[in-house]
Amino acid sequence: MVHEILIWPDPRLKEKARPVPAVDTAIRALIDDLFETMYAAEGVGLAAPQVGVLSRVLVIDASPRQEGQTPIALVNPVLVASRGEIVWSEGCLSVPGEAEDVKRAEFVTVRALDRDGRPIEISDASGLIAVALQHEIDHLDGTLFVDHLSTLKREVIRRRMKRLKQERAEGKTAPEGDAGARPAL
Ligand code: NI
Repeated sequence: MVHEILIWPDPRLKEKARPVPAVDTAIRALIDDLFETMYAAEGVGLAAPQVGVLSRVLVIDASPRQEGQTPIALVNPVLVASRGEIVWSEGCLSVPGEAEDVKRAEFVTVRALDRDGRPIEISDASGLIAVALQHEIDHLDGTLFVDHLSTLKREVIRRRMKRLKQERAEGKTAPEGDAGARPAL
């Protein structure tokens, strides 16, 4: 089922998601919904809080844009190691049409459970997948990419998002932003 993606600012996007006690059929259904919602929005990653579910679950599919990648679903992911530094132009499905440079670790190692509840490790990931992992784990802690920007940039985007939400509420279709072609996380 495709869910509505919450648009920032929204108090639910600022909350810390709870650890999943057991990977059961409800969690697998949530994972399926996250993939379906992400693909419908043509995104690269999506975290459960973005659809209003405060559970530590995320999905990423960097495969169309990064060689060697496959779709991944992570439950209770933990960033266990990081090194290096990279600046990446990031977008977010909860901040449509916007993209800004964010400083991230260049390489990350993440441990999590997969959709069957088995422990997995993604070792020394780099490129888009590394950025996506950091971006989505941030979502689970109530942090968005806009929180990594200057106050001035964040407030400009906040005003644009408020206008966008108002236009949507009035039934107007928003024009594609110039960041529309960038992958949203
Ligand atoms: Ni995002």
